[in-house]
Amino acid sequence: MHSPAAPTAQRTYKSINFAQKLGLFSEHWTPKVIAEMNNYQFKISKLQGEFVWHCHADTDETFIVLDGQLHIDFRDGQVSIGSGEMFVVPKGIEHKPWSEQEVKLLLIEPKGVLNTGDLGGERTAQNDVWI
Ligand code: NI
Repeated sequence: MHSPAAPTAQRTYKSINFAQKLGLFSEHWTPKVIAEMNNYQFKISKLQGEFVWHCHADTDETFIVLDGQLHIDFRDGQVSIGSGEMFVVPKGIEHKPWSEQEVKLLLIEPKGVLNTGDLGGERTAQNDVWI
């Protein structure tokens, strides 16, 4: 038996549409939060060109490509992730995402994770921006 959730006037039952959310911004390399699950966030982003080498010491990072072809370089290899595919970058592994054409993707990672990981610098996007 599980008990029903407490009623709340604010509760809404609305699906989240990736295409609609992706239509709300055009800049690259600026992840936007669209949902949370426990302490994880779902973020959509648009990428094009090269990012910087970085790693996340404390967490894995999931990339789900919604549209386009994403490449991620590692110090010892590379993965290409197409539309409808996903890849989990293990924590502590240096990686550099890049793409020739624009890529639209969904990132899944814990709250508080910065796009540049432990590196910081000018490519660091503002964190926890909801759209
Ligand atoms: Ni990363």
